[in-house]
Amino acid sequence: MSEELRVENLRKVFSVGRPAIDDVSFTVAAGEIVVLLGPSGCGKTTTLRCVAGLEHPTSGTISIGRDIVSAPARGVLMPPRHRNIGMVFQSYAVWPHMTVRQNVAFPLKHRKTPRGEAKAKVDEALEIVGLSEYAERPVVALSGGQMQRVALARSLVYQPRLLLLDEPLSNLDAKLRLRLRDDLRRIIKRTNVTAIYVTHDQAEAVVLGDRIGVMRDGLMLQLASPRDIYNQPADLFVANFTGASNEIDGKVIECSGHEGIVETTSGARLRATFPATIAAGSPATIAFRPEAVRLGASDAINSFTANVVDCRYHGTQTIYDLSVFGGRIEVLELSTEIRFHPGSEVPITLPHTAMWAYAGNATARSQH
Ligand SMILES: Nc1ncnc2c1ncn2[C@@H]1O[C@H](COP(=O)(O)OP(=O)(O)OP(=O)(O)O)[C@@H](O)[C@H]1O
Ligand SMILES: [Mg+2]
Repeated sequence: MSEELRVENLRKVFSVGRPAIDDVSFTVAAGEIVVLLGPSGCGKTTTLRCVAGLEHPTSGTISIGRDIVSAPARGVLMPPRHRNIGMVFQSYAVWPHMTVRQNVAFPLKHRKTPRGEAKAKVDEALEIVGLSEYAERPVVALSGGQMQRVALARSLVYQPRLLLLDEPLSNLDAKLRLRLRDDLRRIIKRTNVTAIYVTHDQAEAVVLGDRIGVMRDGLMLQLASPRDIYNQPADLFVANFTGASNEIDGKVIECSGHEGIVETTSGARLRATFPATIAAGSPATIAFRPEAVRLGASDAINSFTANVVDCRYHGTQTIYDLSVFGGRIEVLELSTEIRFHPGSEVPITLPHTAMWAYAGNATARSQH
């Protein structure tokens, strides 16, 4: 029984500091997985806790299906236990004195589900998370990854309208994290539950999310498909956070629709993609990924000559520090050969669809 979640103009102001959530609106369609991605302190957990009813929003409306569960302006605040939401946290919140089956059955006991029906539901939940053969084991005899599966089965067993997961993989070792990450999406999709998944790991966000909402300082900067987040970051922070670590300052020469030209402070002219229009003459920053640059290639547009300052060989890839446009850029090339050595010149091409121009630049920002 999956339902749509609507969050409208959500604000949460704690007694100290600036708003933890500052006018955030988004919708999660029935059966959709939306990942909230952002650095520590950006408001991910607070958003989840407001949806769950564990935190009281300052203002805004939260609805699940047809129910308004929170609307402070109208005095509406449905208690958490009536919202029918499943939650999985970072810590393995399992009961150590119980078996796997007893843990998973617990919410049904609480809901006074008849015994036969409860057993069938527990069996199904254990099967979905791949723990059928561990049913009678004490949970303390499980690995961390298995304990998180128990927590997941326990929050799915009563068929919640909504599943909230807050960094459920962050306590696991790297190998287990990768395995469970792939399994999690399959499990959530199989139950067709509407889900919000919180993480600060971009790889997790891309694998798990139908859409990703990138947050910073209590704001939702962009909510879009993983492909759009990676290919059309709407904001410099989103570009940086998803790996576009190179930045070049300049000013806009022309901009029409989503294309235009930026002149760097060194005088070079670069064709770039503009997620939002910027007026000619305004300062702009071009951001791009280290792997977007083509080395040793000349093209009709955006081709320049750079100097190799340093190179670091990683076996399957090499990272080059190049001097160009009066500054430094980092370029990553997938290859098991070092093709260019420090001290040499190299032609480079910067494909304009992967060069994103944003309003303002570092010089302007540092004056704020
Ligand atoms: N109970 C509280 N009282 C006061 N401030 C709080 C409280 N809980 C959270 N905050 C503040 O709200 C902001 C958002 O916190 P939140 O826990 O939602 O961040 P987060 O994105 O989940 O971060 P992390 O990745 O570290 O878990 C932070 O500035 C935090 O200090
Ligand atoms: Mg958090």
